[in-house]
Amino acid sequence: MNKFNRGLVVALGLLMFGAGEAAWSQTAPVGDAANGKRLYLAVGCFTCHGRSGQGGSYNYPAPALAETKLPLEAFKTFLRVGPNDMPAYTESVLSDKDAADIHAFLRSLPGRRPPKDFPLLNQ
Ligand code: HEC
Repeated sequence: MNKFNRGLVVALGLLMFGAGEAAWSQTAPVGDAANGKRLYLAVGCFTCHGRSGQGGSYNYPAPALAETKLPLEAFKTFLRVGPNDMPAYTESVLSDKDAADIHAFLRSLPGRRPPKDFPLLNQ
């Protein structure tokens, strides 16, 4: 293989890897939800966002996180920045893999259900 071809193969490989990763992140969460649950409870997310990700408040309303629609990258940005009352979680506290695991856990939670799903509310 000459130099030019080798460069082409590397470029194509990078392109395929990049495209594959982007497509993946838009479908199934890539993290480990069980570990995400452990971390969510261990580092204290639940104190503000609720044990079931139902949301809550501290000094400022903390949004519901169950079934989050945030893509992983946006989710990670919230963690790293820590908007308003939310503390910032640096990489030394939560790695990118930890963030992906928590994201997967939150995506796996059922979230809010409409009142019609509760027999007691439909009598
Ligand atoms: C001390 C309370 C507190 C803790 C602890 C906390 N958060 Fe938050 N979080 C907030 C508040 C308040 C907001 C809303 C900030 C705003 O809208 O300006 C927020 C916003 C977010 C958002 C953006 C949600 C959206 O849809 O806008 C995400 C994602 C998030 N938190 C994830 C987490 C995770 C994951 C953890 C644990 C690693 C965590 N938070 C820990 C208070 C907290």
